[in-house]
Amino acid sequence: MKTVFVKSYGCQMNVYDSARMADVMAREGYTLAASAEEADLVILNTCHIREKAAEKVYSELGRLRVLKEERRADGRRTEIVVAGCVAQAEGAEIIRRQPAVDAVIGPQSYHRLPALLEEARRAGTEGPRPAPAVDTDFPADDKFRHLPAPSRARVRTRGVSAFLTVQEGCDKFCAFCVVPYTRGAEVSRPVMAIVDEAKRLLEAGVRELTLIGQNVNAYHGPDERGATTGLAGLMERLALLPGLARLRYTTSHPNDMGDDLIAAHRDLPMLMPYLHLPVQAGSDRVLAAMNRRHTADSYRRLIARIREARPDIALSSDFIVGFPGETDAEFEDTLGLAAEIGFAASFSFKYSPRPGTPAADLGGQVPEAVMAERLARLQAQLEQDRQAFNRDTVGRTVDLLIEKPGRHPGQLAGKSPYLQAIQVEGIDAPVGSVVPVTVTGLASNSLFARPAGSDAAAISGMAAA
Ligand code: 5AD
Ligand code: SF4
Repeated sequence: MKTVFVKSYGCQMNVYDSARMADVMAREGYTLAASAEEADLVILNTCHIREKAAEKVYSELGRLRVLKEERRADGRRTEIVVAGCVAQAEGAEIIRRQPAVDAVIGPQSYHRLPALLEEARRAGTEGPRPAPAVDTDFPADDKFRHLPAPSRARVRTRGVSAFLTVQEGCDKFCAFCVVPYTRGAEVSRPVMAIVDEAKRLLEAGVRELTLIGQNVNAYHGPDERGATTGLAGLMERLALLPGLARLRYTTSHPNDMGDDLIAAHRDLPMLMPYLHLPVQAGSDRVLAAMNRRHTADSYRRLIARIREARPDIALSSDFIVGFPGETDAEFEDTLGLAAEIGFAASFSFKYSPRPGTPAADLGGQVPEAVMAERLARLQAQLEQDRQAFNRDTVGRTVDLLIEKPGRHPGQLAGKSPYLQAIQVEGIDAPVGSVVPVTVTGLASNSLFARPAGSDAAAISGMAAA
């Protein structure tokens, strides 16, 4: 039997797409390989968002070429596919630069993977190729139509928490970002397609759904009567499904946090008190140059309204330091805003020019050393805030969704409503159950807990081994 190995980079959308590609190939009789070395088919599911993304892909492809040759010497064949946003951006250039690649496929075309591999096989992997097997077209309106339904085999191994794509693409055109070019215009899946997929996931034992999309809160899919439904309405529908314990969504843009979505954080118990709402910067001049179309103050006011609806909500953000022209004072505004909001978790990046985006052509690119210093200062602040949030949870009783056995015998591992990893001991609960636990202590990356109400839960500062 043939095997496939999918190496996934970048965002949750890519993690989901990787599962989808593995699924498509499973239908062709492939099973999952444990590593690229053992695989007959290696798929690199690339991400274009970070610095030198394309160069990193080419160097990984260099390593895979060597692997392919070694395997060939042993009489085994290896096929290499490049998928994801770098595939979308580079297209056939990838095969020109690295002829060991058999096919290049964009995020909209994964259903065509077997056909594309077939084309590549027909064209032959030796010598000049008449037409490289490349499919990076955007089939505009019907890009979800051909998506295969997830197979049982995949969902059974998925665990209690699953991602579900509800929209793709983005119309925001932040000046630094490649997503609108690589993932295309925003497209929302129909409500019933999402409900059907959610039902299948729940039947397979999933308890928590994270709805994903590059600009997920811009979701506006048609319901069965053709009426446009927003993300809040979609979640109300999903909340009725038997078996579902928790709902989350990511990633959101501040300008798409509608009143109904804010109200859902108050009214929908299943919607977890966690929101990833990137602010990117704290200076209005920088935000305008980034084409974010919100200000630091409008973000502050938005957070105040969200906290009014759900006072205990955990907030997380993305930040970019060193956007072209960012001054020391403007960076201080970012630092100040971060400290003021007090994020429970954050991702922060040095600005890196992405070819084809407006910001790449701006003057005033900030020197690397300055960016490094700003990033270190910001990250110190964000880490302090993250730890403060975690410390505040100690002593509290929270619901724990049990995901798997814990690190040590006798422990179980799961997540709090605030997406904190928790290790609990002194309890025997099945994976997928939600149990109240009292947080008794913390280490750098997880919290420790005891069943709520137990004697041990009263002991504070339990060993954080
Ligand atoms: N440079 C640095 N960070 C970027 N991001 C997106 N594009 C760039 C870029 N060109 C970051 C943003 C975004 C996150 C997913 O990646 O913060 O929210
Ligand atoms: Fe990129 Fe997000 Fe801006 Fe869309 S909203 S352009 S995905 S950073």
